[in-house]
Amino acid sequence: WPHAKIRASLLAWFDQQGRDLPWRVGPEGGRDPYRVWVAEILLQQTQVSRGLLYYERFLTAFPNVQALAAAPQGDVLKAWEGCGYYARARNLHAAAQQVAASGFPADYAGWLGMRGVGPYTAAAIASLALGEPRAVNDGNVRRVLARLYGEATPNESWVQARADELLDPQRPAAWNEAVMDLGATICTPKAPQCGLCPLSGTCTAFLAGQPTAYPTPKVR
Ligand code: ADE
Repeated sequence: WPHAKIRASLLAWFDQQGRDLPWRVGPEGGRDPYRVWVAEILLQQTQVSRGLLYYERFLTAFPNVQALAAAPQGDVLKAWEGCGYYARARNLHAAAQQVAASGFPADYAGWLGMRGVGPYTAAAIASLALGEPRAVNDGNVRRVLARLYGEATPNESWVQARADELLDPQRPAAWNEAVMDLGATICTPKAPQCGLCPLSGTCTAFLAGQPTAYPTPKVR
């Protein structure tokens, strides 16, 4: 597989068409960890389009980790209203108090030890805020890779292995954001816009004329 070509194509598309999102402030791979962290927690169960309003509201109430740490829990839950899954807000609040006392985690393993942060979120924060080469792996990534490689039944370890080897070691943060954006805007579950996709030339599913057959849709 032509990794160099796939990386160059997707990153060129991302540089032109990547979404302008409010947590994407600061240099590539060196974004504000607080803003990235809040976004990733919020987006665990909330779509980007719905999350934007909640995100701005939360950031206005608590613009930095010190403000969040110092707030009474009731205020934090109030600011989280509408987002659901309030355990996320409680974990974020408790973890913010830890950060206010000891500083931000310095790497993926450190983030993984924070309350409310699992492998996906730790990989996202480590890459976007610290520039660490960690491939994110979620539903969007799974679908993009299944189509690219023509894998009908991708399991967890297959997805992680493909994601790890494809991650651009020169631009891990941009690569992760690019895959997220591609999966959210072009390589969608239904009616993907293959005509606009920078990877269609090397996409097995597209070349087979069957983009939505990968991964095999769940029968229900
Ligand atoms: N979904 C989860 N994390 C995201 C991010 N950082 N950018 C866009 N969509 C996301």
